[in-house]
Amino acid sequence: MRLDRLVGKWAGAGKRRTRAFFESGRVRLNGKVAEEGGHAVGKFDRVEVDDEILQAMVPRYVMMHKPLGVVSATIDHEHSTVVDLIAESWVGELHLAGRLDRFTSGLLILTNDSRYSESLTEPAQKVGKRYRVKVNGEISQEVIATFEAGMWFAKEKVRTAPAGVSLIGPSECWLTIYEGKHHQVKRMFARFDLKVTELHREAIGDLTLPEDLQVGEWRLFKPEGSP
Ligand code: URA
Repeated sequence: MRLDRLVGKWAGAGKRRTRAFFESGRVRLNGKVAEEGGHAVGKFDRVEVDDEILQAMVPRYVMMHKPLGVVSATIDHEHSTVVDLIAESWVGELHLAGRLDRFTSGLLILTNDSRYSESLTEPAQKVGKRYRVKVNGEISQEVIATFEAGMWFAKEKVRTAPAGVSLIGPSECWLTIYEGKHHQVKRMFARFDLKVTELHREAIGDLTLPEDLQVGEWRLFKPEGSP
């Protein structure tokens, strides 16, 4: 939105009276006097008129070590949610940048910056999500080759980007995928009649779960290029 529209709406003023707010130096954008109203105002810009704050939203980025048994949602009437683990006044502003199933643990990002969350979750951005996976059988060469070639998901009508697979043991691997389809990892293994018995997300793009972030803990961080 333009700055003059925001000020005009707040003041309930027409164009002429709104202009006067600027000409008399009463409007500040991010702490600096704005002499004209043509600036584009983003969600995280601070706007003040005299001593009144019109908007001052702080961008927040939370990384959490999600425990098993907790739902990745902001509201759930049956189970506790990841949001219940953040006892802060601003928690209601946050949304999830990608979900994990109730019985998946690991790295989860919450933010109030939708540009940032989209940069992590849009498949076109090709951000890798790295999981440690255990299954109830052998991960064969056929499984690996199929994952590496990409798989057709009929429900969503998409072919997945080639996944990265690195075996840890006969029934355990690191798997990197570039989308976040519903139950994607479980559905990939289910094609080969393999059931995922343990699933843990270790990284999203360049963000790796810090070793000292204990299960259920969270911390704020600042992504590169954030406002
Ligand atoms: N794939 C799944 O099946 N579950 C998750 O929680 C994440 C990816």
